[in-house]
Order: sequence, then structure tokens, then C-alpha cells
Amino acid sequence: MTDKLDTLKPEFPEKFLWGGSTSSWQVEGAIEEDGKTLSLMDLNTRKKKGYADDTYASDMYHHYKEDVKLMAEAGMTSYRFSIAWSRIYPTSDGKVNKKGLDFYNNLINELIKYNITPIVTIYHYDMPVWIDEKYDGWYGRGIIAEFDKYCRTIFREFGDRVKYWLSINEQNMQICYGDWLGIDKHPDTWFEDKWKVNHIMNLCHATAVVACHELVPDGKIGPVPGYVPIYPYSCNPKDQIAAMNAEELTEKVWCDFYAHREYSPFIKKYWERNNIDPNIRPGDMQLIKQARIDFFALNCYRSNTAKYCSPDDKAQVYELNKSGKKGELKFPKVPGMYQLVKNPYVEYTDWDWEIDPISIRYMLKYVWDHYQLPMMITENGYGEHEKISKDGKIHDPNRIKFLREQIRNVGLAIAEGCPVIAYNPWTFLDVLSTGNGMSKRYGFVYVNTTDQDKLDFKRIPKDSYYWYQKVIKSNGKDLDD
Ligand code: BG6
Repeated sequence: MTDKLDTLKPEFPEKFLWGGSTSSWQVEGAIEEDGKTLSLMDLNTRKKKGYADDTYASDMYHHYKEDVKLMAEAGMTSYRFSIAWSRIYPTSDGKVNKKGLDFYNNLINELIKYNITPIVTIYHYDMPVWIDEKYDGWYGRGIIAEFDKYCRTIFREFGDRVKYWLSINEQNMQICYGDWLGIDKHPDTWFEDKWKVNHIMNLCHATAVVACHELVPDGKIGPVPGYVPIYPYSCNPKDQIAAMNAEELTEKVWCDFYAHREYSPFIKKYWERNNIDPNIRPGDMQLIKQARIDFFALNCYRSNTAKYCSPDDKAQVYELNKSGKKGELKFPKVPGMYQLVKNPYVEYTDWDWEIDPISIRYMLKYVWDHYQLPMMITENGYGEHEKISKDGKIHDPNRIKFLREQIRNVGLAIAEGCPVIAYNPWTFLDVLSTGNGMSKRYGFVYVNTTDQDKLDFKRIPKDSYYWYQKVIKSNGKDLDD
């Protein structure tokens, strides 16, 4: 398939980081243990019928030693995870939770013991309930000082060993799909509110960048946009403009902002046309100007395809497939801007996600061409319904096929001159999916728990684990089964 596209050969530099990725609320469990208090995600998963409750998740809180050992045995040289803010600051009294710090110190020390480089996300969707109650979450500016305090605490505590930091996971996705990711509190006014919320998130991102450079010796920090490359449906010039509009409104606005540290002319004009006031106050842009990022961390699973959408067309919101039965996804229509449509050239997963390995190469080339900053992959992966087979193993050929082509395309982008530091697919071990709990698994390692039954959390490496082990050992040269 992709190897026939051209004559290039994939390349991976020496000391390339091969890892895996998770996030606190999706993997840890122990949501009210050792002083931790609840996050909005903890509350949300309880409300969603049929989804696993993250009280336990993959129970990594109690299995981290075993899990890090498995990472080391796979040959992994990096691990990307997030810190749960409400484990560090559980309440509004401003007191740091020693046991929360201990958990992450122990995890980091365990990683270092095996020469695994920690890559740490500061915020991955898990808003502490107390922040939400006190400051109205992302809607109130009170969060900025609290975020700054939280960042400074973790930089001081872990910065001697953690040198790669990531600010806010998929800020663009949180803004674009606020209802799905739980930050849109007032659907009727979200069209305008989201830009105010986005500005507050930008200020938090900026405080994190500034504090990291101040407090972490040799520390590097970057944002984590969720990246879905957009292709034009046809060579009709109107489809090309539609693709550019979709790209702007779902990812480029954010990437431009992080790299250039100011709002782009495109978004300023968009706000003007739509009478939107993002509530930028005196001093905000000065802080933002100081927030010089060191790299882009990129999450990429799929591509989208855009087509012209007449201003007279009827709007349609993006309805993601929440069941894992093919055909349930509804593509959005944004009249006068773009509509997304099915791509006839690619296959689709059970969740209607495009299976498109070239998208990751496109993304790396695009981001490098536009911003000339080093990049790391922090998410990329294949979600599937999975069970233990009769032979006691987990055979996941589709995942191997998916990842093989994705890795090949990362190597091709590197061969074309893109500086890529690391590849951390989603996920090292099965974790709760944002919308489908344990019914949509991504891991190299199976975790024996289901949405219905807690079971024993036994770890069972899947076929893909052993395949990835070979890939790492050969530094990306041996991609065969
Ligand atoms: C990313 C998120 O967007 O996609 C992860 O950062 C998430 O938290 C992953 O789990 C996969 O999405 P889903 O909905 O299949 O879990």
C-alpha cells in the first residue's frame, strides 16, 4: 500500500523514543484513594450508562510496578502519562497532597530505573470538581492562578527527572467538541462562549510554558493538539477552500496560536464577522508572547475529507459513533464554510474512523512546513472490541496492520526531513475509552476487566506487544509480523 507510493525508505534516528501513552483518569483508578478527590471525568463516566466506571479504570495506581516492568520488557524508552490535578491539590484549601506527590514520584522513579523517559501531560480532561465549583471550571478566570500554582508544584517536585512536559491535551478537540468532552455547560451559547473558554485555556497553557522554562532545568514543553488532517473531496477549487476552512477551524487556529503566540488574522476576522468577543484583557497578550514552545506533541488517529457547503444548506452537528456499530457517525455541516464527508479511498473502523496511515505523514510534513519545530507523536492507535481467545491469548492482527503502516509513514516523514523525537501510540495497556469504556480497547497489553465486571485486572500482553517489541529492537527496521 503506502510502500508503493514512492521509493523512499522509512528512517528512525538513533535514540528515537519508542513508547506508549495513557492518561490519569483513563488508567489509574483509585479515584478517591490517598487523598485524591473527584474530577468531572470521574463523575461523567458514572452517568454514562453502559460505560465502565473509572473508579477502577485499569487499576494502574496499584499495578504501576508491574506495568513499568512490562514496558521495559517491551524495550520501551518513553512513557507518556498525565498527572491528576485533584491528586496533587484535592481541595480549595491550597494544601498539597503528599500522597499524591508520592504516587507520581514512585512512578517516575520506576521509569527512570529502566531508562524510560517520562513525558508528562499536565492536564488531560480531568477537571477537579472543586475547581469547577469554585471558579466555574474553564469559564472563570480564577482557574488561571490555580493552574499556575499546580504547574509550579509539579515542576518543582518532578522537574529534576521529567524534562518533557505537555500543557493541555487536545485543547482544540475540547473546544470543537465541547459537549462530548464535557466542557460545554450552556449549549445555547457555546458558539460564542467557546472562544472565551479557549482564551482562558490559552492563558493556562501560557502560564505552564513560562513556569516550565523558569523552574525546570533543561525542561522542554509543548502543546498537544488533536490532529485530523483534512483533504479536499475533489479538485473542485470550492472543495479546496472548504478543506482549508475545516483545517483552520478545527486545528490550524490552535497551532498558529501556539507557534506564533498571537491570534491569527483568520480567527480575528471570523470573530469580527460573527460578533464574537473572546474577552481578551489587558496583559493577556503580554503573557502569551512569553510562552515560547519547544516542540509540538501531536495526537493523530485518522483523516477527514471536506467538501463545499452552501451558505443556504442546513447545519448539522458532528455526531460521533458512540456504539462501535459501523455507520452511526454523522458528519458535520457548517453552512458557508465546509462539510465533512466519507472518503471513498480509505477503510473505516467499527467507530467510523478513517484507517489512513498516510494521514500521520501528511500531518508531520504539514506541521514541520508551517512551524519548523521538533515534533513527537503522543497518540495514534487502533480501537477494537476485544476478548481473550480460547488459547488464553489476545490476537490483534488489525492493530498490528494499522500500527505497522502508521510507523512506516512516521519513518517516511523522517526520511523526508521532519524532525520527530518520539512515537507514543495510544495505548500501552487497555484503558477506558472516552466514550466506550473497555468496549473499545487500544492497548498492547490486555487488562482483564470489562464494563460489566471488575474481574482481576490481570495483564496479558497481546500479539501486538511482541510485534512492537521487535519493532523497537530493530529501531523501526523490522515492521513485519
Ligand atoms: C484522544 C484522547 O483524543 O483520543 C484520549 O486524548 C482518547 O483521551 C483517545 O482516549 C481515543 O479516543 P476514544 O474516544 O476512542 O477513547
